[in-house]
Amino acid sequence: MNVELALPLLGGLSPEQFLRRYWQKKPCVIRQAVPGVRPPVDRAELFALAARDDVESRLLVQTNGDWKLKHGPFTRRQIPPLQQARWTLLVQGLDLHVAAAHEMLSRFRFVPEARLDDLMISYASDGGGVGPHLDSYDVFLLQVSGKRRWRCGPMKDASLVPGKPVKLLANFQPTEDWVLEPGDMLYLPPRWGHDGIAVGDDCMTCSVGFRTPTPTETARDVLQRMIDALDANTDEPHYRDPAGSATATPGRIPEALQTFAAKAVIDALNDARSLACALGESLTEPKAIVWFEGGEALVEGQGACLDRRSRMMYDDHHVFINGESFRAAGRDAKLMRAFADERCLTARQVAALSEGARELLAEWAFDGWVQAG
Ligand code: SIN
Ligand code: CO
Repeated sequence: MNVELALPLLGGLSPEQFLRRYWQKKPCVIRQAVPGVRPPVDRAELFALAARDDVESRLLVQTNGDWKLKHGPFTRRQIPPLQQARWTLLVQGLDLHVAAAHEMLSRFRFVPEARLDDLMISYASDGGGVGPHLDSYDVFLLQVSGKRRWRCGPMKDASLVPGKPVKLLANFQPTEDWVLEPGDMLYLPPRWGHDGIAVGDDCMTCSVGFRTPTPTETARDVLQRMIDALDANTDEPHYRDPAGSATATPGRIPEALQTFAAKAVIDALNDARSLACALGESLTEPKAIVWFEGGEALVEGQGACLDRRSRMMYDDHHVFINGESFRAAGRDAKLMRAFADERCLTARQVAALSEGARELLAEWAFDGWVQAG
């Protein structure tokens, strides 16, 4: 994607300009970001998805000021009647299940894939919404059907209403107020209070969410993977006692052993390749809900495309796909990087891969990660 090219999606700004002006700074409403937008699923398809146990869904119903939250799957009868006001159904990770939703999410690939999370869709009856709240991540909220009134404001006080099943801001003070129609889109930076309320029936909103891991979450996953990858070298020198280490206090841990342990840990952490490898594997790990069925062999003389659920990224030395890492160099690395960026390889590019890389591609097809395309 040329990030200097103006996009209607960003109100005529280029990704480069949009990110500089608004990203993580201030909200922005883009009227007719997607003119003639069509919801990636219709209401019946959405309700059918919410009935599946491999789809993450939530239902939030307000009655007399009270909020009730339930987690899916939901039979049609568990979803309130359409005429009933103030309820909303939310389906997470729509991009994993529906090609049109994946395409919609792909329009936002001017932000690195490592930061893109998923596309959530909400369906709300008149007055429905999730209440005033804040998210810790950036979000694009695209209205795909009906109307929604959005109020938002910077968060000075993040205290919550006690005793509710959802996080509701106790002191929400909106400074902005907009009604979005189909095709309109709102961008919100992290930690801006917001409240979207359906105006009339059949309100559907797609949220494109981004990943904003905390240092603790990152360290926990990356360290675990670095530990798993630690390969004991059989020639490694074992610990040796310093000379004259007879002790009258045998319960005390020797200082030399503490120094030895500190050095072992620091040396393991200082392995930059291992850290980069663990990070790439962590970032491409599919969500727990994703399950790949075995796939079909690639067709000789054809290109290859990533399955929409596959996550593929790279760094200077590795290629990562669905939580696995591969060393790559030379022409193979160039082609595999193009594969991660474009999510497809032409027949010509596949033919230019080394035999080893083509075998790898065949394995990925066998695993259902890649398809002929
Ligand atoms: C919604 O679509 O109702 C909620 C989206 C959000 O506020 O993040
Ligand atoms: Co939100």
